[in-house]
Amino acid sequence: MKTFYIIGFMGSGKTTIGMALARTLSIDFVDTDELIKIKTGKDIKDIFASEGEQAFREYERDVLLHTPARHCIVATGGGIVERMDNRQWLADKRVVYLQASWESIAQRLKEDQSRPIWADQTRDKQALLESRLSKYLEIASYTINTEQLSPQKIVDQIISFS
Ligand code: S3P
Repeated sequence: MKTFYIIGFMGSGKTTIGMALARTLSIDFVDTDELIKIKTGKDIKDIFASEGEQAFREYERDVLLHTPARHCIVATGGGIVERMDNRQWLADKRVVYLQASWESIAQRLKEDQSRPIWADQTRDKQALLESRLSKYLEIASYTINTEQLSPQKIVDQIISFS
């Protein structure tokens, strides 16, 4: 089975759905943020603070390229689509976009401080979501509008694509 790459904005449920999907299919689950933490021995927040976003994007690129091509579910960071080379690399993979509305995302993440971009008061996150939308859609093999869908229904839909 070809690996499923799950993309979407912060707070769209990539990790929750990815883990549930991997459990259902009895295959491995990996999360690019977790791979970066293992690789660097640092939290994502610390990487942004001490090395900057650019360095984080380099780590993200590197772990993405080393994800298994088969029998795996990969949850990616919301900004994986920022780099054109990542989009090109993902373009021929099996990519599921979990599309959530700004309202749902804002409701879910509220005062979340663990995500440096979300916690950054100087950044307009709604504009960021809008600017990324076309990039998610550009590389998605499948798009699931997650509004009103239970995690189980989302998992079932993804399985129906395989
Ligand atoms: C980011 C999303 C985060 C994490 C980092 C940057 C982004 O992952 O990779 O904080 O640029 O949207 P999640 O989408 O899993 O929160």
